[in-house]
Amino acid sequence: MSEFISTSVADGVLTVRMNRPDKKNAIDRPMYRSMADALHRADADETIGATLIAGVSGAFSAGNDIRDFIAFALGGERTGEVEAFLKALAGSRKPLVAAVDGLAIGIGTTMLMHCDLVFAAPGSTFRTPFLDLGLVPEAGSSLIAPKLMGHQRAFALLAMGATFDAEEAKAANLVYRVVRSEEVETMAMDAAIALAAKPRQALAIGRELIRGPREALIERIDVELKHFEERLQSKEARVAFEAFMTKR
Ligand code: COA
Repeated sequence: MSEFISTSVADGVLTVRMNRPDKKNAIDRPMYRSMADALHRADADETIGATLIAGVSGAFSAGNDIRDFIAFALGGERTGEVEAFLKALAGSRKPLVAAVDGLAIGIGTTMLMHCDLVFAAPGSTFRTPFLDLGLVPEAGSSLIAPKLMGHQRAFALLAMGATFDAEEAKAANLVYRVVRSEEVETMAMDAAIALAAKPRQALAIGRELIRGPREALIERIDVELKHFEERLQSKEARVAFEAFMTKR
């Protein structure tokens, strides 16, 4: 387990918390692995009815750890943690609820597209600077976002790198409810508990019907990953990563 991911179970809900506040919850490889494991555990454990994904106050997640991007670009091995997490998200069999209180960048935004209910505090911001980093959209977002919010909003978010505030994210169907920062986790937890208390089989079947088949989504994740990994080794990406590191 990553020291930066904590999990706990209460009232039939598995809470998965990203807890790396010093780095604004940037997600490194061990964190991806731990989150993938947690989602698999939720799918396999009959006592768990729903999963709540949360961050810390001020940061849901600042996205993939850029140092890991650089390590891969410099010839690091493909180790599969990111893919495992994305596929665990896309294939999850239990409802996913998210509580966002602050920054949601890159995968911090695109993972929300896999959640069934997202609660966000008013000060939250949502941004995917993929193209500015020389990269491409990931996590199936190129397929999900246009359906979720329409082409132009999806394009603004994923290609322009526009920042959505909480109300814009709600208007874009990325967020279900905007609630006060003090309440965001309680409201998200209450929703997760309510889902976990539903008749399990009906919930599972109903959710599958609402979400629809996963094959096209999994296929898109693979196509995006192929481009993403190629882009990580591009000159455009190298220049962007150097710019980020020299600001440190
Ligand atoms: N990867 C690695 N480290 C990150 C990070 C990321 N994605 N995001 C933030 N951090 C680290 C910073 O390097 C800094 O570490 P340091 O204190 O050791 O220097 C720490 O988190 C705090 O970040 P800082 O930039 O000082 O905070 P800020 O409030 O001024 O800005 C962000 C926060 C998130 C806006 C800014 O850090 C940022 O733009 N991060 C990159 C986001 C990104 O591009 N993610 C990838 C998307 S694909």
